[in-house]
Amino acid sequence: MPLVSSKALLIHALKNHYAVGAFNANNMEVAQAIVMAAEAEKAPVIIQMSQGAIKYAGMNGIFSIVGSLAKRSSVPVVCHLDHGVDYDVVVGALRTGFTSLMFDGSPLSFEENIEITKQLVKMCHAVGIPLEAEIGKVPDSEKSHLSQEEMKKYYTTPKEAEEFFEKTKVDSLAVSVGSAHKMKIQSAVLDIDRIYEINEVVEAPLVLHGASGVKDEYVVKAIKAGITKVNFATELNKALTGSLRESLSKNPDLVDVRKYGDEARKNVVRTVREKIQLLGSSNRAEETLRFISENEYFHQHKSGNSIIE
Ligand code: G3H
Ligand code: ZN
Repeated sequence: MPLVSSKALLIHALKNHYAVGAFNANNMEVAQAIVMAAEAEKAPVIIQMSQGAIKYAGMNGIFSIVGSLAKRSSVPVVCHLDHGVDYDVVVGALRTGFTSLMFDGSPLSFEENIEITKQLVKMCHAVGIPLEAEIGKVPDSEKSHLSQEEMKKYYTTPKEAEEFFEKTKVDSLAVSVGSAHKMKIQSAVLDIDRIYEINEVVEAPLVLHGASGVKDEYVVKAIKAGITKVNFATELNKALTGSLRESLSKNPDLVDVRKYGDEARKNVVRTVREKIQLLGSSNRAEETLRFISENEYFHQHKSGNSIIE
């Protein structure tokens, strides 16, 4: 089926107390694996590309792959821009046809973040596309291991989240509650009470970034507290690269990408299926589609054109 917007998926998940998985794709095999896993689990799914992935794979190239996989799929698939830091990349993704966008203004001052997010919300809503933003900062843990004390300076406060949401009316909000990007082991400690507090004052679905570094028990608690979209990237990279490394080291003569690529793709499918089950989004595809079709708002924007084309 055609690509769908993330708006209805996240509202449905919020109302029904589960979360939708947002999985980063850097190449064709990973995008295929995400759709294969979602179909096997009968789950709605978000495929997302960061600016780095777009630089690597090309905006049109990766969008065409995701769009054509969605078209042949029986489950709802969203094509989302992850961490759009540059204004022109966000606008470029909107023009290309992405059905969900993130503007990450976390490196900016609070006021600048509000200002640019507001402009982009206006532009996106004019054509019926939802925008995710970030307040507080989910840090990068790649270079150094951050202590819990160091993590705290990145946290989102309920007060700034409330003000940010009131002023921007974003469709979903990424919050910093203890996770960090690119963690290869699951050692993050989440501040679950903080998620409850933010959820009390922000009417939009909340997003957990850096979920690769979060233990399953914490993910479940975070969803209970109000997290509705959960982002995984490093876990997929590990699944793909780990399998490739194993195949090539076991058989150094191997040169045919199809031989080791297929095994690696299967390993990503396994990982994504486990995450979908963890989030409680297995077997939700049908009810999500019903929810979309019952709610005119989600598929008609102001010009009257369908955003589920
Ligand atoms: O935006 C992407 C995610 O936050 C993924 O983070 O690589 O730590 O899973 P991760
Ligand atoms: Zn992230």
